[in-house]
Amino acid sequence: MSEKNGSHTKWMKRAIFLASLGKNTTSPNPRVGAVILDKSGKLISEGFHYKAGMPHAEAMAFNNLKKDARGGSIYVNLEPCCHHGKTPPCVDKVISSGIKKVYISIEDPDKRVAGQGIKLLREAGLQVNLGLCKEESLDLNKAFIHKNITKKAFGVLKWAMSIDGRIALKNGKSKWITNEESRSLVHSLRAEFDAIIIGGNTLRKDNPLLTTRGSKNPEPLRVVFTKSLDLPSKSNLWDCNKAKTLVIYDSSTANENYLTRIPKCVEVEKVSSDNPELISKILATRGCNRLLWECGPRLATAAVQSNCIQEIITFIAPKILGGENSMNPFSDFEFKEMHEIIKLNDSQFSLIGNDICVKSSFKN
Ligand SMILES: NC(=O)c1ccc[n+]([C@@H]2O[C@H](COP(=O)([O-])OP(=O)(O)OC[C@H]3O[C@@H](n4cnc5c(N)ncnc54)[C@H](OP(=O)(O)O)[C@@H]3O)[C@@H](O)[C@H]2O)c1
Repeated sequence: MSEKNGSHTKWMKRAIFLASLGKNTTSPNPRVGAVILDKSGKLISEGFHYKAGMPHAEAMAFNNLKKDARGGSIYVNLEPCCHHGKTPPCVDKVISSGIKKVYISIEDPDKRVAGQGIKLLREAGLQVNLGLCKEESLDLNKAFIHKNITKKAFGVLKWAMSIDGRIALKNGKSKWITNEESRSLVHSLRAEFDAIIIGGNTLRKDNPLLTTRGSKNPEPLRVVFTKSLDLPSKSNLWDCNKAKTLVIYDSSTANENYLTRIPKCVEVEKVSSDNPELISKILATRGCNRLLWECGPRLATAAVQSNCIQEIITFIAPKILGGENSMNPFSDFEFKEMHEIIKLNDSQFSLIGNDICVKSSFKN
């Protein structure tokens, strides 16, 4: 592909930017943006996918068209769909528009598409270029891709700790380790997720709200994973006016008599074991692309061990909690040799007031 003044890259970056406008709302669908140029290379329309059931990016761009697209080109960060879902196939719209060139960043991993969209475009005589800004597009839709390949939701584990690596005192008290700015950042971070998970003990100790404090409507689903079902009859998570709550319990260990403590507005689902993978799969089936794990050490360790965590976000405060028995972010992985330890990648660091925020990814 010859590139005039980097213009192809420029337009694909614009499509990726448009796609990112739907980053908190498209699940279970991918984040997609589209840009249409006329035959002289002038921008004539653009669009992005906002929400499942609403027009796809390409359809929105065609709906917004101000000029004839015949002989023009379209830039889209994900392969156009070719199946009838909640909306008609985008490939048909591209073909019937008379557009001649299609720039696609990455293939759609969805089995119903997976290269078929590109094939149909080529068979219809359109020129298709694949791979422009591939890395950015893979990154933007990493959760959607992960879910399609593994059938599990993309998991991000978040915790706050002191500079000596403690997440709570030995009596379980942890309010507050980080500063107000970090805590408010966590509220807005939650908006990027479809569901937030804690274990039963964090519910008992912290009684958290787990909301974005209104920055997302509807709020992410709040999920409690419990082996015992020994949950309190009063809890912030039982207030379903703020956000929906789902309790998932392990029926092999739980005392189902405790179910009476959970109000009717809370959904309850049982699973056959305490494997966090079950949670990740159930939530993926319910349409969650991204899950935020805000649990304590025991569930966090189990989630890492079952490959449910793809990234971590930790907030580190310049405070010392001390104590041999204060709580760590993880319990024992039983590593015996240094080569067994978990090495994280792609770390990014930022300062939040006097706290440090570290984001890293796992290579599972
Ligand atoms: N600083 C931070 O960022 C932060 C974040 C979260 C929590 N914390 C602190 O962490 C403490 C709680 O730690 P925790 O480890 O008990 O956390 P947790 O988040 O409550 O996870 C453990 C609980 O999860 C349930 N569970 C379900 N499947 C499990 C599995 N496979 N393995 C382990 N647990 C499973 C059990 O609930 P049941 O007991 O109901 O059966 C278990 O007690 C609290 O003191 C809280 O303040 C700190």
